[in-house]
Amino acid sequence: MIVVGLAASSMVSASSADDAMSQLNAVMADDAKRQASYEAGHERIRFCGYCHGEDGNSKREYIPNLAAQHPLYLFNQFEKFRDGTREDYVMSKLAKTLSLEERINIAVYYSQQTAKPRTGSDPTNADAGEKLFAVHCAGCHGDKAQGFRDMPRLAGQPAEYLGIALRGFKELDPTKHNTPMIGVAGVLSEREMRALALYLTAL
Ligand code: HEC
Ligand code: HEC
Repeated sequence: MIVVGLAASSMVSASSADDAMSQLNAVMADDAKRQASYEAGHERIRFCGYCHGEDGNSKREYIPNLAAQHPLYLFNQFEKFRDGTREDYVMSKLAKTLSLEERINIAVYYSQQTAKPRTGSDPTNADAGEKLFAVHCAGCHGDKAQGFRDMPRLAGQPAEYLGIALRGFKELDPTKHNTPMIGVAGVLSEREMRALALYLTAL
């Protein structure tokens, strides 16, 4: 019964972001709904898997992992790609093709995956990054960079992606607007960003 309810159009009627958020919360709070949503999400991510991995561990160093990311963060990023607050050639187009129900299902699916340690990361060079992280970043991203609600998980992200993201914020990349990261990254040097990326990818 619940599976049918989710698959039908009952969820698509929400008009505001708040409604969408309360629907996502309702799905996450209910075991049966979450399971149905997970399965529908799994069906929908075949194409995404070519880049982000079927299990959310990305296939390329410049592509972010989605595994173990909080569903609220994933959902919010779809909204950002849709409304132009964040832009990417592929993602901006894709996000517009996903229905509200699909966005919820995909966020649920990927949030339940396990992030694997990246191969080739070098923890011995990460000490400087660890100190910087504790001072500048842990307050928002969590002690172990595990993320919290709409603060993304950074642990285990490919170092290359972390570098691209940080540099983009610092250089006021016009494809990224309206985020606290612009102020945060603005004060980091290239060396500090590299140290942070090395530390975070090995977590
Ligand atoms: C051709 C490769 C490609 C495909 C296919 C693709 N993505 Fe992406 N995705 C990317 C890249 C690259 C980024 C980083 C964009 C940026 O730097 O802003 C990204 C970013 C994201 C983000 C933000 C992650 C973060 O850490 O901020 C989400 C969520 C996402 N993609 C979901 C999806 C979903 C869901 C699909 C399938 C419907 C999909 N992607 C398909 C390449 C891809
Ligand atoms: C005031 C809270 C805050 C602080 C402090 C902060 N961040 Fe962030 N960070 C965010 C938020 C919120 C996002 C999500 C981007 C968005 O949509 O606004 C983010 C996004 C990111 C991303 C992109 C993640 C992805 O998957 O695309 C990286 C990388 C990042 N932060 C690294 C850092 C590092 C490194 C530090 C410390 C030097 C730091 N952040 C400090 C709030 C913060």
